[in-house]
Amino acid sequence: MNWIKLFPENVLKGEDFIKRIDVSGKRLCAVKAQDKIFVIQNKCPHAGADLSLGWCSNGNIVCPYHRHEFDLTTGRGKAGQGNYVYTYPTEIREDGIYVGLKESWWKFW
Ligand code: FES
Repeated sequence: MNWIKLFPENVLKGEDFIKRIDVSGKRLCAVKAQDKIFVIQNKCPHAGADLSLGWCSNGNIVCPYHRHEFDLTTGRGKAGQGNYVYTYPTEIREDGIYVGLKESWWKFW
C-alpha cells in the first residue's frame, strides 16, 4: 500500500466539503463529513458523472446526474441500484490525513 498525504490534520476541524482530487494518476473524490474523511472513486459507475459535484445525505454521496446514492463507508449503492463505488482507506496521522493506494504491479515491469 502506498500512503499519500492529502490534507493537513486540522482539516477535520473545518467545514465539511466534497472535493475532486488527482493523486498518483487517479481521479478521486474526498468527502469531509461527520468529522471524518472519506475517499471514493470520482466517476459515478452509472453513467460517469463527477461525484465531487454531488452532495451528502445520511452518510451517502448523491450523484448530481441521476441521484444514485453510495454509502461513503462501504461504497455500496442504495438498494435496487446494483452498483457501487470503490472506497480507499484513509488514516489520520500526526502530520495529516493520508489515503492508501494499492501499488500497481505494472510499475514493476
Ligand atoms: S451518472 Fe451518476 S447516477 Fe447516473
